[in-house]
Amino acid sequence: MKREQWGSRAGFILAAVGSAIGLGNIWRFPYMAYENGGGAFLIPYLFAMITAGIPFMILEFSMGQRNRGSAPITLARINAKFEWLGWFQIGVAATIAVYYVAVIGWAISYLGMSFTQEWGTDTNAFFFSEYLGLGDNSPTNLGGMQWGIAGSMLIAWAITYAAIAGGVKAGIERAAKIMMPVLFIMVLGLIARMIFLPGAIDGINYLFEPDFSKLTDMKVWAAAYGQIFFTLSIGFAIMLAYSSYLPEKSDINNNAFMTVLINCGFSILAGIMIFSVLGYMAAEQGKPLTEVVSAGVGLAFVTLPAAINLLPAPYILGPLFFLALVVAGLSSQISIMEAVVSAIIDKLNWSRKKAATIVCGTGMIISMAFATDGGLLLLDLVDHFVNNVGILTSCLVEIVLMAWLVKLSDVREYVNKVSDFTISGWFEICLRFITPLALALIVYTKFTHLISEGYGGYAQFELMTLGWGLIALLAIVGIIINVVSKPQKPVEAEA
Ligand code: ALA
Repeated sequence: MKREQWGSRAGFILAAVGSAIGLGNIWRFPYMAYENGGGAFLIPYLFAMITAGIPFMILEFSMGQRNRGSAPITLARINAKFEWLGWFQIGVAATIAVYYVAVIGWAISYLGMSFTQEWGTDTNAFFFSEYLGLGDNSPTNLGGMQWGIAGSMLIAWAITYAAIAGGVKAGIERAAKIMMPVLFIMVLGLIARMIFLPGAIDGINYLFEPDFSKLTDMKVWAAAYGQIFFTLSIGFAIMLAYSSYLPEKSDINNNAFMTVLINCGFSILAGIMIFSVLGYMAAEQGKPLTEVVSAGVGLAFVTLPAAINLLPAPYILGPLFFLALVVAGLSSQISIMEAVVSAIIDKLNWSRKKAATIVCGTGMIISMAFATDGGLLLLDLVDHFVNNVGILTSCLVEIVLMAWLVKLSDVREYVNKVSDFTISGWFEICLRFITPLALALIVYTKFTHLISEGYGGYAQFELMTLGWGLIALLAIVGIIINVVSKPQKPVEAEA
C-alpha cells in the first residue's frame, strides 16, 4: 500500500506546529515558569531548546522521513532490536491522549461558561468542588461520573476522530490549516489587549526577570527539559509519524528549525499573555503577584477565570482565551492519536477508518476515568510519571541508541543533502554528549527523588501501580511485541 503524504510543505509545517503548540504552551508553560522562579526558568528552557530540542527534532524528522513508518516500524527498520522502544513510545502517547482530552474537555466547558462567567467569584471552590466534583477521592477511589465533563470530552473526541479518519491530507492537514491561523490571530489579539492593562508590565517583568540562584537547582533543569520534549512532541512517537508522510527529499533542517522556533516563540507569547493578566489582577486587588496566583493545574482554570471577572469586556476576552486553549489542545490531541493510529495501520494493515474507529473508541472509553470525581488526582499522578519517567527515559534511550549505535555523521550528511541550509558538528556534539549527559543526570535525580520522597502525597500503593507499574507495563508490552515481531525490511528493499 502506498503511504499517504502531506499535500504541501506548508501543510506539514502547520500540522507539526499544531502538534507542538498545545496545552503544553498555554496551560503548562506559564505555570512551569511560575513554579520554577519566573524568568529563571527561561535560561534552562532556552538551553534545552538549543541543545536538545532542535537537534532531536532534526533527528526525528530524518528518521521518520527516511524510513517512512510510524515509531515502531521506523525504529525496527533502523535496527530490529529497537522496535520495542517505538511501542513504548506509542504506549506513552496513548496514555497522554486519554488524560489530555480531559483538559480539553474542561476548556470546552469553560468556553461555554465564559460568556456569562458562570464560575462566579469563588473560582477555586467552583473549579475543584462544583465543576470537578472533587471530594475526599483518590486516584484509586474515583467516585461517580461528572457527566458535564464527559459530554465535553465527547465533543473533543468527535473532532479528533473526524480529522484522523479523514486522512493525512484531507483530515489532519486540513484541520491544521484552519486551526493554526485562527489560533495565532486569537492569541495576538488577546496579547494586544492584555499588555495595555494597568499592572500588566509588572507581570511581564516577573516572567523575564532572571533569578540566577535557581540555576543550581536540578529540579528547574529537569522541568525545563521535560517541558521541551513535551511541548515539541518529540520522543513519544508523534513527530516520527508526522515526518513519515513527508515526500522524499523534503527539507529537514529548515522544517525542524521552523517548528521549534515557532513553538517556543508561541510559548513566550502565551507567557506574556498570562503574566499580563496576572499583573493586572495583582494591581486590581492591591496584592503582590505571588499572592494572586494558584500554582499547577489551577492557573488556567482558577486564576484566569478570576482575572477574567475583572477584565473589561470579559464576555469577549474570556471566550477568546478558552477558544484558543481548545483549538491548541485539539490540534495536538489529533497528532497524539495519529501517532497511535498510524502504528496500528502499519502493524495490522488495517484501513485508516477501521484503525481510527477502534483506537479512538477505546481511547474514549478509557478516558472516562478522568471524567470522575477523582479524575483530577488520577490525571495528576499519571501525568507526573508519564512526563518525568516515561518521556524523559524514552528520550534518553532513543538518543543513546541513535547517537552511539547508529552513525550520526550519516544522519547529518543526509539532512544536509536534502536541506536548504546545512548543520555543522554541534548537532553531533549535542546529541552524543550534552543532551544524553544532561538527561542521564536528570533521570537519575528524578528517579532517586521519586523513590525516596514519592510524589504529591499519594499512597505507596498508588505510586507503585498507576505510576511505576504503568510505565513498567508499557515497557514490557513493547518488549513482548518486539520479540514476537518479524524483522522489518529496510525501506529501500520495500520500494
Ligand atoms: N506538544 C503538545 C503540547 O505541548 C503535546 O501540548
